[in-house]
Amino acid sequence: MRHFTHLKDFTPAELDALVDEALALKARRAPSAALAGKSLAFCFMNPSLRTQVSFNVATHELGGHPLTLSLGSGGTWGMESVEGVVMDGAAAEHLKEAVPVLGRMVAALGLRSFPTGLSWEEDRQEKALAAFRKYSTVPVVNMESASGHPCQALADLMTIRERMKPAGKNFLLSWAPHIKALPMAVPNSSVEMASMAGMNVTIARPEGYDLDPEVMARVKANCDAAGTTLKVTDDVPGAFDGQHVVYGKSWGSITHYGKAPSDDPAFRKKWLITADKMRRTADALFMHCLPVRRNLVVSDEVLDGPWSVVVDEAENRLHTAKAVLLHLLSTQTAPTAATRRHAR
Ligand code: CP
Repeated sequence: MRHFTHLKDFTPAELDALVDEALALKARRAPSAALAGKSLAFCFMNPSLRTQVSFNVATHELGGHPLTLSLGSGGTWGMESVEGVVMDGAAAEHLKEAVPVLGRMVAALGLRSFPTGLSWEEDRQEKALAAFRKYSTVPVVNMESASGHPCQALADLMTIRERMKPAGKNFLLSWAPHIKALPMAVPNSSVEMASMAGMNVTIARPEGYDLDPEVMARVKANCDAAGTTLKVTDDVPGAFDGQHVVYGKSWGSITHYGKAPSDDPAFRKKWLITADKMRRTADALFMHCLPVRRNLVVSDEVLDGPWSVVVDEAENRLHTAKAVLLHLLSTQTAPTAATRRHAR
């Protein structure tokens, strides 16, 4: 049994095969019976628009039955993920029972579980996702955890591949202002994806906003293996020069964990992604996972301009969700391009 929870569990060729499958599914966009008779449960501990809708529609269009469960917010019992605790708090049920119970009824599980923002050391253990992986008898999809959003990264790779061959191109992850300390899941996964795709990776961020060292070590290893470069800088707008892809995203500081970034107007102006910065690029795509706060993270002119592919990225969440589900459930369904490639 295979899960889709971390990019590191896949090779670049396997990610490419999943994108190949998603591109084929997008081209034909025909209803299928590949998941007929199967129910899939998508469990959310946090809000979502794209992830929730894409996995629901993907399951429906593949002939299966999707269930969306809001864990602990009125939809189901509150869930405990820590082992060995006295459960005298808000959580009425432990994932140790809930996950295997769901596994007796559904063919696959998805989980969205954000960090608490209280302790990076605690959050990076991803206890809820770890419990799903440990106790599930069916494949598990990480629909965004504390440190990774592999589904978003796969859709982003597809969006890039629709417009260019990524190998050897330049990818900039540019930190952006925000009113909250946001998770590092999307930025971690975006640079891991870009490095696996053979792109030169630049991360522009203020001092104190470095990404998870374990992720950076993998990105460095991927870049070394591909013969590409990895650069971390606080030089904006200089970092935009010559870029082919600009990925805008805010994230919280590990050093000042959970603390909102500065609201100093000069600091915000420096890091806001603007058309002037985009004009320094090599006609780059502007990417963002959404939702995005206009004119705080990125200007209207960029989002509404020719650079922006953010809605395409969101659409590609649907096609890549289908590819992932077919891949995970492929022992019971027709083999996909991805699984055919794995079999070689
Ligand atoms: N990009 C993304 O995961 O969107 P949602 O949070 O709306 O699911």
